[in-house]
Amino acid sequence: MNSKIEKAAELLKRDELVAIPTETVYGLAGNALSERAVAKIYEAKGRPSFNPLIVHVADILQVKLYAQFGEMAEKLAEKFWPGPLTLVLPRKKNCALSLLVSAGLDSVAVRVPAHPLALELLRYCNLPLAAPSANRSGKISPTSAAHVEDDLGDRVSMVLDGGDCKVGIESTVVDVTGTQAVILRPGFVTKEKLEQVLGQPILVSKGAEGEYKSPGMLQSHYAPNKKLRLNAKDLLPGEGLLAFGAPLGGAEIIENLSVSENLEEAAANVFRMLRLLDSSSATSIAVMPIPEQGLGIAINDRLSRAAN
Ligand code: TXA
Ligand code: MG
Repeated sequence: MNSKIEKAAELLKRDELVAIPTETVYGLAGNALSERAVAKIYEAKGRPSFNPLIVHVADILQVKLYAQFGEMAEKLAEKFWPGPLTLVLPRKKNCALSLLVSAGLDSVAVRVPAHPLALELLRYCNLPLAAPSANRSGKISPTSAAHVEDDLGDRVSMVLDGGDCKVGIESTVVDVTGTQAVILRPGFVTKEKLEQVLGQPILVSKGAEGEYKSPGMLQSHYAPNKKLRLNAKDLLPGEGLLAFGAPLGGAEIIENLSVSENLEEAAANVFRMLRLLDSSSATSIAVMPIPEQGLGIAINDRLSRAAN
């Protein structure tokens, strides 16, 4: 057994926090059965306590210990787990999970992550792990161990380094507590793919301002320190450029999400490049337009929150 996994499991059993790699972004993990460990997560992130956390588990069987698993959940889990899909399910009666993990709701969000180290850890420690993205609340999500060290290094007992996150953008959150599935947060698994598997239309939950309505979908999120200007068609003096496709002329500081306009590549790059531009000498950041379709919807969702 990997000695790092052993050490991480040991810490988690003692209600310590461990940052873990997943295929989407790094998570700040704690024992989801322990109110104390979950309270530490909220504290370390500075996260509002009305914003519930995702519980990570090794397989479907483990989910069924804690949550009611209906027909839609079966179909989606069968197709997309392990992977970047989170299901919001009704908590079972006398569910052993921390109440804080659900922030007072009678539902719980769960997913089986696809990163090999995360799965190895989940199997070895045999605990459900609550894990929000491992960044300070409202800041840019981390896609490498170094990002976590920068943001939370002094607040976690260990960072398990699993390399760069391949997906780079958070899981899609789907509420399956009702009769029709509802997307609460767009993510790597698109609406089209979900509908294909369910064989029926899926709702998208949006508030008055058009924002997604998961409790944690605050309008300002993923925020860099610098100002972000979206849909830029030209470049202002001093601006750094976050390009997509052929870059606008005149930029001195530039990161390109995808020269070939590939949305998967752009998703994998977006948080890392926002960090790079934020720490560059550019005075602010201009973002080129990204098509509002497929995975572009999730990327634009993150960028518009970052700009708020
Ligand atoms: O890819 C991901 O999902 C990453 C990795 C680490 O797994 N995790 C992540 O967690 O993004 P976090 O805490 O940053 O986002 C969780 C989202 C929030 O928008 C939260 O409001 C929503 O899931 N959520 C959690 N529990 C919920 C519940 N019971 N009902 C509705 N929404 C819920
Ligand atoms: Mg987050």
